[in-house]
Amino acid sequence: MSRPIIAANFKMNVTAGEMASYAPRLAAAVADIDDVEVVVAPPFTSIDRAARGFGNSAIRLAGQDVSEQPHGAFTGEVSVAMLRELGCRYAIVGHSERRLHEGETDARVSAKALALLAGGMRPIVCVGESLADREQDRTLEVVNAQLRGGLAGVSADQARDLVVAYEPIWAIGTGRTATPELAQEVHGAVREGLQALFGDAGTDVRIQYGGSVKPDNAAALMAQRDIDGALVGGASLDPASFASIVRAASSR
Ligand code: 13P
Repeated sequence: MSRPIIAANFKMNVTAGEMASYAPRLAAAVADIDDVEVVVAPPFTSIDRAARGFGNSAIRLAGQDVSEQPHGAFTGEVSVAMLRELGCRYAIVGHSERRLHEGETDARVSAKALALLAGGMRPIVCVGESLADREQDRTLEVVNAQLRGGLAGVSADQARDLVVAYEPIWAIGTGRTATPELAQEVHGAVREGLQALFGDAGTDVRIQYGGSVKPDNAAALMAQRDIDGALVGGASLDPASFASIVRAASSR
């Protein structure tokens, strides 16, 4: 399996001032783990402080979103180049909260993913079904459509730099995690979808699970064949709890 990737999505939490104390604590807590890629996505205003607080540690930075436009009259937006300049290697696109509150469509997700790849960054593309989708037995159909739409235009060559996050909406912030078996079922389908799109390159794309990942359920999720990491919300806000999720993904 490829190196697991555990990412923290702070959402609209952690001010720059709070980041200054969080960053060195996390860096110290994961300093001995080198077989897991650790990524932190703070709000834009805390990224610079995070970069300084992580210092020489191997922790990577991510934006929580990005504009598909390079620059110009787009009030409130942040470009790929702006994130890169702050040291970000990744950006999350298509999070269900942006799809829900900001009307983000698959077409925009794909435009953002392509802008990131063209700019030398790596997209974390989020997909996931609602509770209604699941109850109507439409999970795989919905997730596949988001995958095809959100990755439209991405080449097999570019797929190397891609991460996909499967986050069932009903599991986000609810404490109701998908069981490892249930998550694996969708991850397996996502893997097949990636292979259909990218051939062999689809085998190596890392697929994260997200939705109420906690220190006590992370190991069982990570043990599943097609679960290559986690995208963590609430439990990432405490450095000790996030570090113990990272440790659950480590083989040592
Ligand atoms: P929670 O871990 O708080 O459920 O959030 C998951 C998520 O949305 C990460 O992007």
